[in-house]
Amino acid sequence: MSEKAILEVDGKRYEFPILRGTENEIAIDIKTLRGATNGIITFDPGFKNTGSCKSAITFLDGEKGILRYRGYSIESLAKESNFLEVTYLVIFGELPTVEQFKKFENDIKEQSLLNEEMKNIIDGFPKVAHPMGMLSSLTSALTAFNPATVDVTSENNMYDAVVKLLGKFPVLAAWAHSKNKGTPLNYADNSLDYISNIMQMLFKVPTSQYKINPTAVKALDQLLILHVDHEQNCSTSTVRIVGSSEAGLFASIAAGVSALWGRLHGGANQAVIEMLDEIQNDGGDVEKYILKAKDKSDSFRLMGFGHRVYKNFDPRARIIKKAADALLAELHVSDPALEIAKHLEEVALKDDYFVQRKLYPNVDFYSGIIYKALGIPSEMFTVMFAIGRLPGWIAQWKEMRLGGEPIGRPRQLYIGHTERDFKNINERA
Ligand code: SDX
Repeated sequence: MSEKAILEVDGKRYEFPILRGTENEIAIDIKTLRGATNGIITFDPGFKNTGSCKSAITFLDGEKGILRYRGYSIESLAKESNFLEVTYLVIFGELPTVEQFKKFENDIKEQSLLNEEMKNIIDGFPKVAHPMGMLSSLTSALTAFNPATVDVTSENNMYDAVVKLLGKFPVLAAWAHSKNKGTPLNYADNSLDYISNIMQMLFKVPTSQYKINPTAVKALDQLLILHVDHEQNCSTSTVRIVGSSEAGLFASIAAGVSALWGRLHGGANQAVIEMLDEIQNDGGDVEKYILKAKDKSDSFRLMGFGHRVYKNFDPRARIIKKAADALLAELHVSDPALEIAKHLEEVALKDDYFVQRKLYPNVDFYSGIIYKALGIPSEMFTVMFAIGRLPGWIAQWKEMRLGGEPIGRPRQLYIGHTERDFKNINERA
């Protein structure tokens, strides 16, 4: 295949190099386009056809339903690994040795204490504040208590910022949950592993001992592995572009939390459970909601369905669906929402509207069933997604910073007024 792409505009031909990835993906390198053509740009709303960077972290193939972190399949990592080990893998590029893992885990534990003054910030929120809004604000506030982390050039400072964030972010997430519940803010317990610590911070109350449930810990560990990274999705692209201005890690991640909050992105897991509850409360009439989702005059969408990249199936949804079944059985819990979800999937996948548009369950469709079974309320689902995605955001930010990428600054196609003269207010109609 030719290593050049030809573009012809007004009879003039322009050549652009063709780039090839390690999985044989092909890109046309248009870095010189605007200069070579005296101002012509490409136009691609939502960047559906645009590569923003080269990355060695995650590979996904939407047609084949393939997802790999640093070359390891999501299926093998979900089965064999654990969340903290996968965190190390995506950030540093290799699975850790025993010594590397121990040091990483200890460095993170050493950072699990927050400055007590951070409580003044959370005190300022109303009890009903959405935890994603609190998490974004508190993450950004970490910079004020750790000013050295703004230095994005030194690798040592970068490592410190990474372990600080991995140690403190879950505590902030748990504090947001405690604020909503009106219960005391918990501290990390460094005698526990990373996931058990998250569970105790979310649920522990001073009046009783919190008993760790290994089944619940294993289910949450696996679910968070499935959320670790997903190449250049909306929130990850946000983290990269904010970091490209040399904003610090905490500020960049705080922006990613805000982007994830949207219901078309990470907020979908909360929207799915709310949708399933609505269907259940409406008598379980799945067909009625399928019709609503197909009706262009109705703003209703089948939340948890469809994906920008996966046009066959989301491999994460397959694993989560099986894990939800297994967890409910192990916990002897039945959840009508799961049955409604399965029925919805079955009906949708036989319906032309969904088949033609290649709309399948995505990562958010079944994840809420597991969170619910673990006792996590729906407004915390996207916070759990953020805890899972944090390692990927960190890895992508680090790759962008160490890669010396230029500041992100897209162009536009102007469609506003051409030049016109100013009119004094008394002359205006
Ligand atoms: C995540 O990018 C990532 O990797 C994200 C993520 C990650 O790990 O970071 O995977 C996590 O965000 C998963 C997606 C969670 N969001 C939802 O479940 C919300 C519901 N789904 C969508 O709104 C939608 O499918 C998106 C946002 C996920 C994808 O939107 P696209 O790629 O921009 O597709 P589109 O909106 O242009 O839809 C194409 C067609 C349209 O119909 P037509 O105009 O062609 O007639 O499909 C229809 C849409 O109306 N459509 C849906 C639908 N999703 C798309 N119709 C009904 N219900 C839906 N859910």
